[in-house]
Amino acid sequence: MKKVVLAYSGGLDTSCIVRWLKERGYEVICFVADLGQGFGQGENFEEIENRALAAGASKVYIRDLQEEFIEDFILPALKANAIYEGKYLLATALGRPLIAKYLVQIAHKEKAQSVAHGCTGKGNDQVRLEVAVGILDPTLEIIAPVRDWEFKSREEEIEYALKYNIPIDVTKKKPYSIDRNLWGVSIEAGILENLEQEPPEDIYLLTKSPTHTASYPKYLEITFAKGVPTKIDGKLFKLKNLINYLNEVGGQFGVGRADMVENRLVGIKSREIYEAPAGTILYTAHKELEALVLDRELAHFKEMVSLKYAELVYYGLWFSALKNALDGFINQTQKLVSGTIKLRLSKGSCVVVGRKSSHSLYKKELSTYGKEDKFDQKLAEGFIKLWGMPYKR
Ligand code: ARG
Repeated sequence: MKKVVLAYSGGLDTSCIVRWLKERGYEVICFVADLGQGFGQGENFEEIENRALAAGASKVYIRDLQEEFIEDFILPALKANAIYEGKYLLATALGRPLIAKYLVQIAHKEKAQSVAHGCTGKGNDQVRLEVAVGILDPTLEIIAPVRDWEFKSREEEIEYALKYNIPIDVTKKKPYSIDRNLWGVSIEAGILENLEQEPPEDIYLLTKSPTHTASYPKYLEITFAKGVPTKIDGKLFKLKNLINYLNEVGGQFGVGRADMVENRLVGIKSREIYEAPAGTILYTAHKELEALVLDRELAHFKEMVSLKYAELVYYGLWFSALKNALDGFINQTQKLVSGTIKLRLSKGSCVVVGRKSSHSLYKKELSTYGKEDKFDQKLAEGFIKLWGMPYKR
């Protein structure tokens, strides 16, 4: 019998896919990746496993990949300050190559010839998963049932599920498409497709409305060692706890929302709402620390690399040679990115209010206008003459 490993979420689509693949002669093995999507809402993996089995899966793999997600995907993106089109911290995009990696790994273990996913034919995620799988093992067949199957509406799918006793939870479903993990939430569809409409408050999962947060601010000190966040307010944190904690407090103060119209890979513009409290706080602090310790040329060059890095992540090219090479550059830049940044969270904003680092290139005796000034102003005259010389006719 042909075997297929399916990236399974427990939702309606992937549950119907289990049955659909079985009807086409496949033994279906489900793989559920825990990337922290359950934080705060008690995602129940036992329930998901039972649902997969009831839908017809022969076996279910549930893997807690949170540590690997942080170490190998979130941290590199943070060190790179990777942001797509100025707003998106790439939570969904960063998770896909990791899921692809395990689809391939489990396929090898199970001696399966195929992998499958539940992405639609209009999105970026199909591209990310399939390009990654193709790089890791080009011999695997990739099946994308949602692109091919006969159902024309959600109702038809529900009918199919009911007919074959596929367990689904229709009541829980909001009229949005939501993707969530440790690094953030992506929300689209439904009334959000109307660009003139402000997003309704009830779509948000992590953040309070900035208009309803406390009237007082919250101060935080984030310490980094070589580009990696290690402490909050002087207290050592494991990375997973640090991210969860910052999602919690950031969310309390309404920090990390973005409402965005973005350019998708498949050529269309789409509107998505993002929440990334921890990411927003950490990016703000990390960038500020870099402003202190990186010299001008390195800092400016790194900004260009950030743009390219974000594109590569968004475009599904995580396992490409260029992305790999850029990691080498970025890691080199992080050697002196150690120090502490003080932030103030208030009413949806996150601003830097203090910074210190033993590697700081800021020299008060040079920048001061006070009497301890050591800057030799006479040198400026010659500098300006030479600097402007090429432009004189
Ligand atoms: N637009 C984002 C991306 O391409 C998120 C995609 C998934 N969004 C969702 N609501 N299911 O990375």
